Amino acid sequence: MIEGRRLRVQRSGKMLLRDVSVSAKGGEVLGVLGPSGAGKSTLFRALTGDGHADAGEVLLNGIDVTTWPLWKRARAGVGYVPQSQSVLLSLTVRHNLETFLTIARGDPIGVEEAATRVGLQDRLDVRAGDLSAGERRRLEIARALAARPKVLICDEPFAGVDPSGARQLAALLRELADDGAAVVLADHHVAEALDACDRAILLLDGDVAVDAAPDDFRAHPLVQGRYLGTWTRSLPPSE
Ligand SMILES: Nc1ncnc2c1ncn2[C@@H]1O[C@H](COP(=O)(O)OP(=O)(O)O)[C@@H](O)[C@H]1O
Ligand SMILES: [Mg+2]
Repeated sequence: MIEGRRLRVQRSGKMLLRDVSVSAKGGEVLGVLGPSGAGKSTLFRALTGDGHADAGEVLLNGIDVTTWPLWKRARAGVGYVPQSQSVLLSLTVRHNLETFLTIARGDPIGVEEAATRVGLQDRLDVRAGDLSAGERRRLEIARALAARPKVLICDEPFAGVDPSGARQLAALLRELADDGAAVVLADHHVAEALDACDRAILLLDGDVAVDAAPDDFRAHPLVQGRYLGTWTRSLPPSE
């Protein structure tokens, strides 16, 4: 279980997170949705230790990890797929996975299994720089999965992935939660994300505006109006 309590982040005089509280327990997929600039990545950085909050706490299975750096939270079971590209482009898929596993776990066992879980088993000897954007994203997810995280925090895991790939990855994240992990996910592929979620929050301007089960979330006026943009004005009469 991962829990952020009253997380506040202020940068250059701007409030990016306004005392945000979120939690995801084992077996649960939490969606964090919201327009660009809402603070999703800032929240994820505070949860993973990739950045720090100015106030608030982060708890991992009840233990206060607020001051722990990224690597220490990772070793304690927090997997992280950051928003920006993070594979080693000059290394093959296999070497990327081996390198990461050696750092994360002390041995490179599990490379082929991790590649297979994301459908990259036939691409093991391809340089990461020669993969498509979607394949690179899958490699980043495979890398996070290979460490067998108890909590997986994925920042736009479907970016660059085609619709069928996004559905497969969403199913994979669901499966991971069904196996007991807590999964937190931000993405603009709303349909795929909500299909995988048990609960979703709408982040607007650093604040949790909606916290609901997927069906209620989709139908919520703030989600419709401020995020999906499907709140239509009445059209002028046609001539
Ligand atoms: N170091 C920083 N200094 C000032 N503003 C920042 C900094 N980092 C992020 N921001 C701003 O914070 C807001 C939230 O960013 P982010 O968390 O990346 O949003 P999201 O992931 O929801 O798109 C954005 O307006 C962004 O420009
Ligand atoms: Mg972001």
